[in-house]
Amino acid sequence: MKVTVIGAAGGIGQALALLLKIQLPVGSILSLYDIAPITPGVIMDLSHIPTTVKIENFSNKDIISALQNSDIVIISAGIARKPGMERSDLLDVNGKIILNLIKHIAYTVPKALIGIITNPINTTVVIAAEMLKKIGVYDKRRLFGISTLDVIRANTFVAELKNKQPNDINVPVIGGHSGITILPLLSHVKNINFTEKEIINLTKRIQNAGNEIVAAKVGNGSATLSMAYAAARFVLSLINGLQGILNIVECAYVEGDGKYTRFFSQPLILGKNGVEKIEPLKLLSIFESQLLYSMLTTLKKDIIQGEEFMLK
Ligand SMILES: NC(=O)c1ccc[n+]([C@@H]2O[C@H](COP(=O)([O-])OP(=O)(O)OC[C@H]3O[C@@H](n4cnc5c(N)ncnc54)[C@H](O)[C@@H]3O)[C@@H](O)[C@H]2O)c1
Repeated sequence: MKVTVIGAAGGIGQALALLLKIQLPVGSILSLYDIAPITPGVIMDLSHIPTTVKIENFSNKDIISALQNSDIVIISAGIARKPGMERSDLLDVNGKIILNLIKHIAYTVPKALIGIITNPINTTVVIAAEMLKKIGVYDKRRLFGISTLDVIRANTFVAELKNKQPNDINVPVIGGHSGITILPLLSHVKNINFTEKEIINLTKRIQNAGNEIVAAKVGNGSATLSMAYAAARFVLSLINGLQGILNIVECAYVEGDGKYTRFFSQPLILGKNGVEKIEPLKLLSIFESQLLYSMLTTLKKDIIQGEEFMLK
């Protein structure tokens, strides 16, 4: 199994690379690429950790050789938010980075599973899909926006509030990955009851958790460590699916059945080709249904921006 991380010298990339170096299955290959001058040093640093995961691409010169034979490519390349910025403010810069990287991926490893971390993922994933389509290699089962951070935040906040073990909590989070498009389904959490006030406060906190971090880092970036943890969890689930392990479920932002919007984050069963099946959503509470319908205009607008990005 070969996993490539693009953006590997960044805040998320370095932490993700570390987690993958110690968590990937025995004998895996980890390939790291970034345009930052520090990158060969980061790669060398990781290579001194004694695990069976082999590090590739020491020179960091060539994205094509970094990508070759990858089963999974994760992209965290791009700029991150500063205080006062919305994720959408990153679009002009990050959209172009994604277009360029996806071209290389499409020509070098057209069958790889691609996971996009780079924000605004409501739109960057659409940009990636349109470029893959243009090149003629788009397979909607193989392209993911990684929204796992919303799920792990929701699990953590519920566990804290209810004094439970976080690993016992599973909050599906649907919609997109920004502000009101993030919709945690607290009514689907097993064996826990919430008051109306708890639901309102938790939902708001999960939707705005990224802003808490941007503010606390006072101008020096957004979530990196928790995001790296989330991405590592998602990569390991993709690998489990590729290896034929059954019933691997993760929420991610993918092109689905279009019931609500063309791209939508929801629980997916992962398998040998990426998305094996989209899990039908169980009944939503009235509160959740209202939030779902009121986010759709925003999410649709984000998606259209992605569809039209290449035409600009
Ligand atoms: N999906 C999520 O839940 C989520 C959460 C947090 C942050 N993010 C996003 O992830 C992205 C990365 O965040 P970060 O904190 O790691 O930023 P960072 O600035 O620390 O790192 C970004 C890295 O990308 C590299 N890079 C830029 N252009 C590149 C290119 N063309 N090819 C290869 N590498 C390139 C930079 O050199 C840098 O090392 C941001 O867009 C951020 O908004 C997403």
